[in-house]
Order: sequence, then structure tokens, then C-alpha cells
Amino acid sequence: MVKRNTCIFISGKGSNLKNLINKSREYNFPIKVKLVICDNIEAKGIMYAKKNSIPYLIINTKIRNFENKIINELLKRKISLICLAGYMKIISKKFIQSFKRKIINIHPSLLPKFKGLNTFARILKEKEVKTGCTVHFVNEKLDSGRIIVQKKFYIDKNDNILDLKNKTQKLEYIAFPEAIIKVFRNS
Ligand code: GAR
Repeated sequence: MVKRNTCIFISGKGSNLKNLINKSREYNFPIKVKLVICDNIEAKGIMYAKKNSIPYLIINTKIRNFENKIINELLKRKISLICLAGYMKIISKKFIQSFKRKIINIHPSLLPKFKGLNTFARILKEKEVKTGCTVHFVNEKLDSGRIIVQKKFYIDKNDNILDLKNKTQKLEYIAFPEAIIKVFRNS
């Protein structure tokens, strides 16, 4: 199986990164994680890149043209898929244009519901019956690109923010790999 060079963007804990690195070890899983990009020097997730000897880049997003630096790295490594796995910085239109249909994102809600931040608090406030996660292509509008995979669960009346987060993330570890397989199935 030809494995596609993939870059994973993170900002925090990196549990999706860890899951995707593990999946990529399976011989029939279609990606190889070639690079990790992180915008937060304190992100715990960087340790998964270190542990697995995957090159990583910590980007200072306050520097002008920081995206050009990222684009150069991606081109240099012939990256064919970018996975946003808890990357909390908005990506510019120019960047999205440069990697059209090659960027996918995981979001902790059933899009188009609850785009943006603080999803779990808003889901509880709206007394939703069910929630879940979505993997979608990234386009110029926030959390609005074509949906690839969605997984859902029913909310228990006692669930708090942490419960929702844990239940959602459990589904994310299934949804993200499934979405990646789907992206490459028809290419
Ligand atoms: C994930 O739950 C993901 O859905 C969310 O950040 C978390 C990262 O967790 N993404 C967003 O909220 C994007 N708007 P992780 O660092 O443990 O993978």
C-alpha cells in the first residue's frame, strides 16, 4: 500500500495525534505521519512527535509570514494530507487555497450545529438530546466544509462538560481514521 505523506497540526493535548500515529503503523492504513506542526510551545502533544521520532515544528504565529514557513515545510516533505487535530488557530484563505481539498479538521459537535469554540457548554445550555463529532474538509468558512464522517451519541441527563468531552473524544478516535480512509478511497 502506498502511504500518503501527512502532516498533523495540533495546539494541545494531542490525543488525536497519538491515535493517528498508532493507526498509521497498521500496514493497510493509508497515511504516514511525516510532520507535526504546533502553534503552542507548551502543548503536551509534542511529546508524541518526539517519542515517535517524527519531525515537528513549533510555530510562532505572532511572526509575520509564519504560514509561508509552514507551506515551505509541507512542500519540502511532499505532504498530500493535512489533518487539523485540535489546532485552534484560524487558517488563512491563502493557505487553504494552496492546499485545496487536502485539509481536514475534526470538530467536537454534530456540524453544522455548534461551530466555533466552547462547544460543550453551549450544547448543554441548549439542552441537546444528542451530540458527537464531525470530520470535514476545510474551506474558507469556519467549520463549514463538506462533511466526511460524523459519529453521535445520546446525552445523559447527568452529563457535564467533562463527560461530553470524554464521550466525544472516544468517538473522535474512530471517526478521524475512518475519514482518512474515506478521503483516499476514491483517489
Ligand atoms: C478535539 O476534541 C477536537 O475535536 C477539538 O480539540 C480537541 C483536541 O484534542 N477541536 C476543536 O475544538 C476545533 N475547533 P486532542 O489535542 O486531545 O486531540
